[in-house]
Amino acid sequence: MSTLARGLAGRTAVVTGGAQGIGAAVTERLCAEGCRVLVLDKSAEHGRAAVKRWREDGHAVSLVVGDVVDERTVRAAFAEVPAGWDPPTLLVNLAAGFVFKGLDAAPEDWRAALDPTLIGLSLVTREFVAHLPPDPVGAAIVNMASISAHIAQSGYLTYNTGKAAVLGFTRCAAQELAPRGVRVNSVSPGTVWNANNERYHREVLGLDRATAEADPEHGGRFLLGRFADPAEIAAPIAFLLSAEAGFITGTDLPVDGGYLAV
Ligand SMILES: NC(=O)c1ccc[n+]([C@@H]2O[C@H](COP(=O)([O-])OP(=O)(O)OC[C@H]3O[C@@H](n4cnc5c(N)ncnc54)[C@H](O)[C@@H]3O)[C@@H](O)[C@H]2O)c1
Repeated sequence: MSTLARGLAGRTAVVTGGAQGIGAAVTERLCAEGCRVLVLDKSAEHGRAAVKRWREDGHAVSLVVGDVVDERTVRAAFAEVPAGWDPPTLLVNLAAGFVFKGLDAAPEDWRAALDPTLIGLSLVTREFVAHLPPDPVGAAIVNMASISAHIAQSGYLTYNTGKAAVLGFTRCAAQELAPRGVRVNSVSPGTVWNANNERYHREVLGLDRATAEADPEHGGRFLLGRFADPAEIAAPIAFLLSAEAGFITGTDLPVDGGYLAV
């Protein structure tokens, strides 16, 4: 892969939810950019398999298995940056609560939705900031929102509220961290064809990718008439982390095949 982004090589990045799906694509992209990547993911199974693969490919990836909601885990993750790596100056917050409920959501549904998406985001970001070097040149954070942060979707109240909160968190964190030169942005993807979405479309809807993309209710909802591949989300994340985006902060980048444009 050609290296497109300036200023990433040799840096240390933390990626939450980096073991699977979009997160794995982000980890792979940052490795390709020459970063060292610390993955914080609650799935030991997927995390260990992915890290083994990446290391065999010669990449510098370290894994902390744990939940972003657990304060002790988050502290330990930043204490466990391998010797010889610089302190992390890049952060990608991807872990989220996948709870899809409407107004009938119980308090525990709300906690399951918002704890990872919002509390986890805040714990990881706070710890990242606490470990920044005194002059964190080029430090940047990208948070994962969604088109769901911008729209109403039936039965998605818990998820969409959490994603809308990510936009507010991003703006406020950008304001707080600007004096230290730390940029904070988010991305809002449309539907990404990862393993979970592939399984959902096949098992629940009985659709393969081509059929789902031809359907105006599914892939056809997007102006480009298809779903995204995980690498197509990882690339703009790498851009926002890089020196190419040096004057971009406090904003959201839709990566949605034109969905929010109409
Ligand atoms: N897939 C999509 O279509 C899509 C679209 C827009 C936004 N997003 C967002 O992108 C992000 C990644 O989604 P994905 O579809 O790739 O998910 P995924 O399920 O494929 O991967 C999520 C990863 O995060 C880890 N994780 C989940 N909760 C965690 C927690 N509390 N602590 C630590 N790790 C945790 C999981 O173990 C998993 O490895 C999420 O924030 C999601 O809301 C996804």
